Amino acid sequence: MDAIRLRGARKLEGTIRVSGAKNAALPILCATLLSDGESLLRNVPGLQDIETTAALLGVLGRDSTVSIPEVRVHPATRPPNPEAPYDLVRKMRASVLVLGPLVARYGRAKVSLPGGCAIGARPVDQHLRGLEALGARIQVEHGFVVAEAPRLRGAEVVFDIQTVTGTENLMMAAALAKGRTTLVNCAREPEVEELGRVLNKMGARVEGAGTSTIHIQGADELEPFDHAIIADRIEAGTFMAAVGAAGGNVLLEHAPLDDLEPVVVKLRKAGLTIDREGDHVRVTRLGVLRPCDVTTAPHPGFPTDMQAQLMALLCVASGRGVVTETIFENRFMHVPELIRMGARIETRNNTAIIEGVPRLSGASVMATDLRASASLVIAGLVADGETTVRRVYHLDRGYEAIEKKLGGAGADIERIHLEGEPP
Ligand code: EPU
Repeated sequence: MDAIRLRGARKLEGTIRVSGAKNAALPILCATLLSDGESLLRNVPGLQDIETTAALLGVLGRDSTVSIPEVRVHPATRPPNPEAPYDLVRKMRASVLVLGPLVARYGRAKVSLPGGCAIGARPVDQHLRGLEALGARIQVEHGFVVAEAPRLRGAEVVFDIQTVTGTENLMMAAALAKGRTTLVNCAREPEVEELGRVLNKMGARVEGAGTSTIHIQGADELEPFDHAIIADRIEAGTFMAAVGAAGGNVLLEHAPLDDLEPVVVKLRKAGLTIDREGDHVRVTRLGVLRPCDVTTAPHPGFPTDMQAQLMALLCVASGRGVVTETIFENRFMHVPELIRMGARIETRNNTAIIEGVPRLSGASVMATDLRASASLVIAGLVADGETTVRRVYHLDRGYEAIEKKLGGAGADIERIHLEGEPP
């Protein structure tokens, strides 16, 4: 099994290129199912989740060629198989994003229920209720959701909570529904806005993506598309937190500064200098690292996907920081591992109180989910001695060649194979 080995206590200096956004690429790949023609996605990150989605499209009857940074989804040449099996869905919860496109395009979808995951229960009730409002008959049987509708009809859907993939699933379904759909209390994440741009390229009329109310005029047929994916705000934010923790001066190429506002506000408070340089962003931390308080919230609040990385930074700030997680009920799995590295963290329910220490100490630690793994890598950058982050497959789901990117900016980091452990 692969692991990441780091030797800490070096500043980061140099340039890091930010890849395309995973959480924009995944729904857009699923949107290719809405048309039978050949679609081309550019600026796609080289990630395990992209491979898993391409494999899923293949099972559903759509072949693709993944040649990073491009993915070409070929025209439909065989009859569709609108059934997403448990084996793929359990690897990646975002597989549920095929539900809307399949039922809209083929009148039937059978998608394994994703179940819970390390960060929480993560139900999909909002996706299902929304599709029902559009006229789908939904049944849950033998661990699968079966959705059927000869043709979806536009309707008003009011979400009880803001859900990113729920909003995206409904947008894709509504794009092929008869008539107009209004989605209320939508997630406002930049990735939702990006999907709206793609659906408009395909011929649907989407207004308001990126705000809490989205109107979609469905089309009878949709066109294939050619689209370059936006840059990954969470990857960029992760590198900002890494520079904050380790100190130094790094140019983040193509970092999407506007999408990162809530993160940048906190990092500046912590003592980082973050400035736009043309299409890029320069991040420096030369002086003392100060603590700050953060509460996660749906966009434009502080993203839950940056919570673990910010906590790693607070572990070495000069004072007490407080982190409150409000989106997922179990997203503090990195805390015991950070404590093993010498961090002083106390948790009470969904709040963590972090007393900064001057330096962490290298240890062998275990990644539990994607963003938790990134926080352990950041901790390793400011730890004395050697840190080994195990279960790197979590990192590979969401960070393209993180060891090469950080290594290129001066970090002492490498990917190793641990003998005696399964591959
Ligand atoms: N929820 C429900 N019912 C639903 C849907 C969601 O109760 O039908 C709850 C969830 O359990 C959670 C909250 O609503 O407590 C918000 O979940 P959301 O649906 O917004 O999350 P998601 O769409 O499953 C996406 C990202 C996650 C990111 C969250 C929150 C993708 C592919 N995934 O997940 O990304 O954490 O939004 O911003 O876009 C990651 O990249 O590491 C990651 C986990």
